[in-house]
Amino acid sequence: MSRSRQLTAIFCVATSLGVAWGLNFFFESLMAPRYPARLAYDPVDHMPPPVDMAAVQRGWPESLNEPEQRVRLIAYLGDMERQGRSQTIVSSAATKPAVLDLGTLLASADPHVGQVKAQVCTSCHDFTRGGPNRIGPNLWGVVGRDVASHPGFSYSQAMSAQPGAWSYQRLFDYLASPARAVPGNKMSFAGLRSPEDRAAVVRFLGTLGTNPPSLPQPQGSGHEGK
Ligand code: HEC
Repeated sequence: MSRSRQLTAIFCVATSLGVAWGLNFFFESLMAPRYPARLAYDPVDHMPPPVDMAAVQRGWPESLNEPEQRVRLIAYLGDMERQGRSQTIVSSAATKPAVLDLGTLLASADPHVGQVKAQVCTSCHDFTRGGPNRIGPNLWGVVGRDVASHPGFSYSQAMSAQPGAWSYQRLFDYLASPARAVPGNKMSFAGLRSPEDRAAVVRFLGTLGTNPPSLPQPQGSGHEGK
């Protein structure tokens, strides 16, 4: 290859590189790329680093070869236990006011709120007078009614074996956890966790009937139960 051809080749390559760069510069200034402030995906760096538990566990006893380390670990464990204990004390003190008697809960419970909360029951229960049995029995007048006594409904053995009638208290306890209150009964409903919600529902159930029993009296600061 002659020298002039070499030069021409180099010149051509340089020119096309220059043109490409120039065009790139020109178009980029036309349409400035905008980078999002946040990545659309979570980079792997944000994931917790993988921990080799086997290595960690193998490392433990080794570091405990020094007596000083052992003492520190034992002190730490003792501290954890003490902290746990004081936490239980704190939490049991904190839940104390929540253990209200049913009378007090019912006195401040709103039957309209209860009716809303009782929407979950309507997939299985009808609340109207003379209404049908569904998956569960009709609940008109259930407060004060004998347990498992609604005509035309085939109750489970567990429910039929329950003596007596539904009081506010019994309904309140049953609805907390039907499976625990009447083991083996066939109401597949987890229960209402919050005592306030349960009191509202029970209060609402009390409005369904011609002659519901009177509400239990709120108990004062005394702790007489029944
Ligand atoms: C998944 C369906 C289902 C849901 C939801 C349900 N129940 Fe029931 N319930 C039943 C069945 C079934 C029985 C009959 C239980 C038995 O015979 O063992 C029953 C029984 C009862 C009884 C006893 C009635 C009697 O005549 O002795 C009461 C009270 C009751 N349910 C209240 C409620 C309330 C209040 C709710 C809503 C908070 C509710 N249930 C939600 C299915 C349901």
